[in-house]
Amino acid sequence: MSKISVAFFGAAVLYALVGMCLGIFMGMSGDHTLSPVHAHINLLGWATLALMGTFYGLAGAQTPTRLAWANFAVSNLGNLISLPLLALLLKGNTDVAPIMGAGEMLLVLGMLIFGAAIISVARKPATA
Ligand code: HEM
Ligand code: HEM
Repeated sequence: MSKISVAFFGAAVLYALVGMCLGIFMGMSGDHTLSPVHAHINLLGWATLALMGTFYGLAGAQTPTRLAWANFAVSNLGNLISLPLLALLLKGNTDVAPIMGAGEMLLVLGMLIFGAAIISVARKPATA
């Protein structure tokens, strides 16, 4: 399997572990304040990155390597900025909202790059 696929799956597992621990903490404490953070760590971290990794695994040698690594960097940066700031926002720090918005724009950009990678793969002739 390609390095890019392994990187996506490796990162996805880390987000899943953090998201699950937060879910267990919420269940045990009864404090569900951070429920949207838990949901989006799992959905933007685990689910989205694992889906992207699956696509690059299927694309194999047809993967546009630079686009795929740009996708990896931008999507992770978006997560690492927006998810902790969402937690701070939910705890009452409303002044983090603009920077969190910038993180969300990175998440959208990461998805656009992923879309561009799909188009690139679709245009390349199949190798096998
Ligand atoms: C050990 C694993 C997990 C535990 C203990 C756990 C626990 C929880 C808890 C306690 C809540 C709050 C429910 C509420 O406030 O009503 C929650 C919400 C949620 N969880 Fe998890 N969760 C786990 C894994 C996952 C995974 C893997 C995903 C997605 C792939 C996920 C997606 C969600 C979503 C979307 C919500 C929000 C639901 C809503 O607001 O309606 N969870 N979870
Ligand atoms: C830039 C990306 C995203 C933004 C800004 C965003 C924003 C939001 C907001 C504002 C809510 C309402 C939260 C609340 O009721 O307190 C929400 C809920 C939800 N979103 Fe997202 N979302 C994003 C990506 C995603 C993705 C990729 C998925 C699924 C793969 C997803 C699944 C959900 C689900 C299941 C809920 C309901 C659970 C909850 O209320 O916590 N979101 N999202």
